[in-house]
Amino acid sequence: MTDTTSLFSPLSFAGHELGNRAVLAPMTRTSAQDNGQVHHDMVDYYRDFARGQFSLLITEGLYTDEAFSQGYANQPGLANQTQQVSWRCVVDAVHQQEGRIIAQLMHAGAQTQHNRFKDEVVAPSECRASGEMLSFYGGSGLFPLAREISEQEIHEAIAGFATSARLAKEAGFDGIELHGANGYLIHQFISNRFNQRDDAWGGDALARLAFPLAVIRSVREAVGEDFPIGMRLSQGTVTEPGLQWQGGPDAARQRLAYLMESGLDFLHLTSGDAQAPAFPEAEDEADRQLSLTALAAQVREAQHANVTLIANGGTDSQEKADAVLAQADLVAVGRSALANHDWPKRLKRGTPLTSFDFAMLSPLATLANEEDWRIANDKPANCEGRC
Ligand SMILES: Cc1cc2nc3c(=O)[nH]c(=O)nc-3n(C[C@H](O)[C@H](O)[C@H](O)COP(=O)(O)O)c2cc1C
Repeated sequence: MTDTTSLFSPLSFAGHELGNRAVLAPMTRTSAQDNGQVHHDMVDYYRDFARGQFSLLITEGLYTDEAFSQGYANQPGLANQTQQVSWRCVVDAVHQQEGRIIAQLMHAGAQTQHNRFKDEVVAPSECRASGEMLSFYGGSGLFPLAREISEQEIHEAIAGFATSARLAKEAGFDGIELHGANGYLIHQFISNRFNQRDDAWGGDALARLAFPLAVIRSVREAVGEDFPIGMRLSQGTVTEPGLQWQGGPDAARQRLAYLMESGLDFLHLTSGDAQAPAFPEAEDEADRQLSLTALAAQVREAQHANVTLIANGGTDSQEKADAVLAQADLVAVGRSALANHDWPKRLKRGTPLTSFDFAMLSPLATLANEEDWRIANDKPANCEGRC
């Protein structure tokens, strides 16, 4: 009998045949050129994961316009033609290794730490993101106070996502992922914490989906029917990983149902632990056990929706990957992939994995820092028979 759910089983995904279920999770490395173009080290970096047999790669979050979307210094962009051209080298390198690559499109909103186009920061409502800026992305101290984004700027932000998606398609990317997780702008519109608007972009939980749904519509119009579009979702933010969506499992089901009906090809659910219950204090005993992915799988089944589910969080072994794959179609790996660019290949061969070490990302989460760590610790990224 063919095994259809384990890590090394193939999957047909939005017109592509993936050789296995291992996906590289999106990870910001703040290693682009100052103008947001790809640095040549990034070509080798992404190629390495495809060579290491990740069948699908999701890029780090790319800013989408030359206005308010950039969040970090040396964050790569996909907001103009020169940035687009620079991404072609990455896309071609991944395709040469028979990997597939999706561009993650992100608008930082209130979580902006550095933006070379604007001095101001915008969010759905005036607010300050909680906690302190992330030092490994070069920030320090409190986040800036974000002002309420205007109606016109909302339309410009939506247009930015659409333009960026078109640039991604023309650059040869195999799809795009809208970053609706971790507290960035799309998440902010969804969240009652950041969105207190009482116009067409805010209100109850359903009304707060207006922005993500408008982005999805606009992006779809820009790229056509055949180009995969997905969205990443989380409950927590970068500085408050424990935050929960308001309204418990029923509201979550409703939100997931609307998003599944919106024409998305995939949903990417992320949390600290993909298998952990999303609402451990839910009234209903059965609901208390459900992870965000399990909830999404329930909704998908109930709606007969044709949406691929990617799950992420805490997967650092084949056993965990296979457990996650009982509920999702694909498993995205973050930190363990950073430590092992050939994570799938090592598991297949039975080669021991290198443990993730936060020192790889400190003081900065750059590729140069990772390289220094590898040399100092004699830990090759891709072992090629050397380990
Ligand atoms: C250095 C680093 C950068 C990250 N950047 C992004 C990003 O750009 N976009 C995103 O959606 N998540 C980002 N994340 C979150 C990861 O995609 C992933 O959700 C998280 O690491 C948990 O998965 P893991 O347990 O497999 O590492 C980042 C994580 C790390 C460690």
